[in-house]
Parts: sequence; structure tokens; C-alpha cells
Amino acid sequence: MNSGANPPVEKKTRRILMTSALPYANGPIHLGHMVEVIQADIWARFQKMRGHECYYVCAEDAHGTPIMIRARNEGITPEQLIARMYDEHRRDFTGFLVEHDNYHTTHSTENRELATLIYETLRDGGYIARRTIRQAYDEKEGMFLPDRFIKGTCPRCGADDQYGDNCEACGATYSPADLKNPVSVISGTTPVERESEHFFFTLDRFADSLKAWMTQAGLHPAVRAKLEEWFEAGLQDWDISRDAPYFGFEIPDAPGKFFYVWLDAPIGYLASFKALCAKRGLDFDEWLAPDSDTEMVHFIGKDIYYFHTLFWPAMLKGAGFRQPSGVFVHGFLTVNGAKMSKSRGTFILAKTYLDHLDPEYLRYYFAGKLGPGVDDIDLNLEDFVARVNADLVGKVVNIASRCAGFINSRFDGKLAGVMKEPELFAEFATAATGIAQAYENREYSRAMRDIMLLADKANQYIDAHKPWVLAKDPARVTEVHDICTVGLNLFRQLVVYLKPVLPKLAERTEAFLQIEPLEWDDAQRPLLDHAISAFKPLMTRIDPKQIDALIEKTREDVAKENATAGRKQAKAAQDVAPLAETISIDDFARVDLRIARIVKAEPVEGADKLLRLTLDIGSETRNVFAGIKSAYEPAALEGRLTVMVANLAPRKMRFGISEGMVLAAGPGGKDIFILEPDQGAQPGMRVK
Ligand code: MSP
Ligand code: ZN
Repeated sequence: MNSGANPPVEKKTRRILMTSALPYANGPIHLGHMVEVIQADIWARFQKMRGHECYYVCAEDAHGTPIMIRARNEGITPEQLIARMYDEHRRDFTGFLVEHDNYHTTHSTENRELATLIYETLRDGGYIARRTIRQAYDEKEGMFLPDRFIKGTCPRCGADDQYGDNCEACGATYSPADLKNPVSVISGTTPVERESEHFFFTLDRFADSLKAWMTQAGLHPAVRAKLEEWFEAGLQDWDISRDAPYFGFEIPDAPGKFFYVWLDAPIGYLASFKALCAKRGLDFDEWLAPDSDTEMVHFIGKDIYYFHTLFWPAMLKGAGFRQPSGVFVHGFLTVNGAKMSKSRGTFILAKTYLDHLDPEYLRYYFAGKLGPGVDDIDLNLEDFVARVNADLVGKVVNIASRCAGFINSRFDGKLAGVMKEPELFAEFATAATGIAQAYENREYSRAMRDIMLLADKANQYIDAHKPWVLAKDPARVTEVHDICTVGLNLFRQLVVYLKPVLPKLAERTEAFLQIEPLEWDDAQRPLLDHAISAFKPLMTRIDPKQIDALIEKTREDVAKENATAGRKQAKAAQDVAPLAETISIDDFARVDLRIARIVKAEPVEGADKLLRLTLDIGSETRNVFAGIKSAYEPAALEGRLTVMVANLAPRKMRFGISEGMVLAAGPGGKDIFILEPDQGAQPGMRVK
């Protein structure tokens, strides 16, 4: 062999247990969930390809009030609901080529035993306190109400139909007791206050140990900074019990009290792993021992890292288990620059996507966008089509299709016996180290960029040597053989590097090249003097029509959901507010509505729902706080026109002075729509 390649990098076998967050068993998997699962699956496949011992486990998060209520609304038991969801979720994950080593449920024997064990150890260690709290209670239903199950009028701005914990209109946070005209979402009756004894986990007692853990665990600097803030603010005890009726595990020494779903959810990681250990003969206790030399890493979204970087490592510590070696936090998915929205047709379900498009397109697109940080990632559907078609079909697969035909038709399907471009092959082989480092650090976008640069080089090589021209000259036939052998070898190296992302492309390539499943180090050795099979297209282009069909179908999904859920429909009708009292034309004339350009949009520190908008109204700029953060990515708003009330008296808010109001419509949450004028309107024009 004369490839000039590096010897395989020296490495020792690592033992890694990895997880992604357990999806709630009360709703379908959508493309937002898939960001994380694809990110984790790529990492798992990469580690395995490198020869490490790696187990990727997950499970259904089966407990809690929303699941109990949903089952009741459907007229089935929670067990029936979670069994159905289990099948649907697995179908979707498998459809996206995600390979869990075990997929379990938190409603399992293993989880009950582990939750009990952990609770009892914490209790015996003195880490569980009991306190009586007052909480909203639905007398008709005979149950305590979680904040999300109470709605009413915001005590600060007076907006109707706000949840019990915060106002989507003004960004206020409060306790349900402060809400005006509160009603139970379940029965529609007015809740009362009732006392009940709750169990608390004394998180604060772990402050020092958590600080120590934090310094040596794999955490992104942004996550670490947030942890510092939390430490500074002081750690609060955590309420881990809920009163019956509740779907979950009853607390062993407290009849009628249940573990809060978030207590047994992360324990579900261990339950899933324990079940795997039983199947594969692994030593669970050794993996979970405090001094274990194994790794345990969690892939999660940015909404749940308080649970994973404080409660979870503290619980493990208190219970005498090892702590996570890494918590990898990703941002949220937006579609075309905005939060996924049912009415925009961008709340795309995994199943709907799979009915229209190849899973590898999305795996590649997400990989091209994912970094190690917590930034949100955007699925821009136009860019998605362009990128997949240009990179995967136009660059990568193209290399094989340009070379395979000649090998098959001229050389009996056999590759040449020498590698004519050892430097080029060696350059591709050397790139393995940097690409591996990028995968390891979850800098997938960098890995994809590096791989595509190599693909460009391979195509340039073929362009420069023009085998289709040489093939016409009988004297130069050997050269054609050599060039195509180089091309297919470069292609094979690229497929090795892409295999964690595109396992099916790799499989088809293995069949085409008639080789064993590719391992990472196969990129170091060329494939020579080897018979390949006939070439079949390895991947096809996306037709933009497929995207249109996907969006159309997504809209239909939503319409169907609304139609079948009678309760929801009734609620939608309530959402159309009754018309207000008539006003005179003079009243109307007093409102000065202006076209405004959003020159800047930015999040407001400390406000979940607000964006700070800088509006240009021709004659001046205005600072306005708008409760539209749940529906828009700030960047997607900049440059757009909207309509504002320009003569509203300035209002002092917690974050500054708001000088007017922008006009928007919709029930709230992701479904808020700012008004946009027709083309030709200019900032400052008065709306009449
Ligand atoms: N059941 C909890 C997790 C318990 S882990 C012990 C939960 N479930 S979830 O179904 O709401 O979310 C599962 C994962 O998907 C979370 O990590 C969450 O951050 C992620 N995502 C849900 N929607 C998302 C987007 N729109 N974008 C990216 N990830 C998102 O939380
Ligand atoms: Zn409010």
C-alpha cells in the first residue's frame, strides 16, 4: 500500500452511557424534538464507529397531571395512553434512523425501584423536608391544580386568559393566588385555596458539592455562566411531591402522596440503562459507582437544564451514585425564522415529515447547523432544499456517479491496483483527525463544512482530469481507470466521515462497493484491486413540491386535530373575543396609528415574553416593549414594517419606558401575528 496515510490515531476504548431527554407521553414527536435526538444519535454512532463502548438509552416520560388529564379526555386509562405514545414515538425515532440501545418508560418496575431507592437514601440522609403549603384546589374535580391548569386575568396589565404563573401579554410572573377571576382549566369552576403537606428536596445543602461538580463536568461556558447566576441567587428547596389524584409513583412512606414527575423522570435514564444491563450482561452498579471510570452524558434542550445541572447531580450525589460527566445543552428549533406555529403550518410532526421526505436530508441539515452551544437553530425550508441538493446530491454522491460508470463498463467492475494520487488520498486521510475532534466536541457544523471542502476537492480533481474525454482515446484508457479509482476512493473516505450522520447512504455505499460496514479508520486505507457492483443512484434531489406538500399536510394535521378534539374547538370559539362597545368616528380619530419599521428587536433580560423593539416612525424612533417573544425570533423581525399606536401615553415598565404599542392579533403563545402593511407603505404614514 502506498497511500502516504497516517497510521490510525492511538486511542483507548472509552465506556460511555448517553441519553437524550425523555419525551412526554402526551403528545407527538415534532421536528423540535428531532434536533436533540439527531444530535445525540450522531454522537452515539460516531463513538461506536470509533470502537468505543457506547450505550444510548432513552425512555418515555410517562407521569404527571397533563398525561392523566389527556387520558381522561380521551376516555382511556393513562396506561393505554402511554402504551400508544410509546409505539408512536418509537416509530418516529426509528423512522429518523435513531438507534437507541434501549428505549424504556418511566412507568416501569426498574424506575419504581430506583426512584424508591434514591428517595429513601435521600430521606435517610436528611435531605427531605416536609412543609405545609397553600395551593389552588379544584373542589369539583377534587384535585390540586398545577399553575398551568389555572387561567385568569393578569394582576398587572389586566390581560384576560393568562396562565396561573405568568402573563404572556406583559411578561409579569406571579403566583396563581394573585390572578384575578381565576378558573380551573379542567372544570371551569373557581378554585379555592387549600393546605397540604409537601415533601422538599433540600437542594441548598448540595451547593458546595455542585460547585465542585460544575468545574469538572463537561458544560458549555454559557451553561456554566447560568449556573453561577443561580448559585448567586441562592438555591431553593425543590417541591418533589404531589397529592392524589396523580399518575405516577406513590411515595413509599406517604399514602396519597406521589413523586412529582420531574423526580422520577431523570431516574428514568438509569431505569432504561438498568434494563439494558440485564439484557446485555453489563454491571449496572459498576457503571453507576461514584468512582466509576465510565462516562455519563445527557443531551437536553435549553428549557430543562436547571433540572439537569442542579437537581439531578445533587440527587445522584445524595443517593451515592456517580454524577454526570457532561450535560450537553442545545437551543430551540425555529422554522423560517419564527417559533414553530400550528397556524403557519410550521409545527411539523416527525411522522408528517417522514411521509414526505427522506430522514437523511434533515439529519444532514441539522448537522450542518449544530454547534456545541445553546443558540437556537433555524430550519429555513428554502435553504434546506438548496443545501441538501447542492451538498449531498450535487457534491458527494456526484463523485461516485461520475466514476462508477467507467469502472463498470470499461474495467469489468474492478478498481485499479494502485492509488495514483497518494497525496490527495493522504490529505483526505489526515482530515480524519480534525473531523473526529469536531464530532467529539459536537461541532457538527464544522465537521460538515470540512467534509464538503474535501468533496469540492474531489470534484475539482475529476473536473481537471476529465475521464469522459480520455475515455475516447484508446491509448489513455489506463488513465481513466486510475482517475476513477482515485475518485471512488475519495468518495469512500467522505462516506466514512459522513456515516454518523448518513447511515443509510453509508449502507448503500457499502453495498455498491461490496465492502464490510465502514469503520472510522477505513478512511486511512485505500480500496484497490477490488470488484464493485453496478451503480444505483445513492440519493435523489429534493423537489420543492415535496416541501409544499409537507406544509399543506401539516396544516391539515392541525385542522384535523382541532376538529376531533371537540373540547378544543369549543375553546377556540371562546378565544374569539366578543366585539367591544361601539365608538364614534371622533373616538377613533384620537388614536394615532402609524406605519413603523422595526429597526431593532432584542430579548429583554429577565422577561420571558417581551421583546424590546426600536421602531422608526419617520419623524422619530420609539422604544416599545411587546409581548411577542413567544411567537417571533428577534432577528426575523428586524427590517419589517408594522403598525403602532403612536400617541399612547408612555408607560413605565420594570424594564424601561414603553412609548407606544404595536398591533398584533392571535390567541397568544406561538400564535401571535404582528400586523404588516401592504407594499409601498413607508414609516411614519398615518393609518386611517
Ligand atoms: N419530559 C421532559 C424531559 C425529561 S428528561 C428527564 C421534557 N419533555 S419534552 O417532550 O417536552 O422535550 C423533550 C426534549 O425535546 C427536551 O430536551 C426539549 O428541550 C426538546 N425540545 C422540545 N421542543 C423543542 C424545540 N422546539 N426545539 C428543540 N428542542 C426542543 O422536557
Ligand atoms: Zn399582564
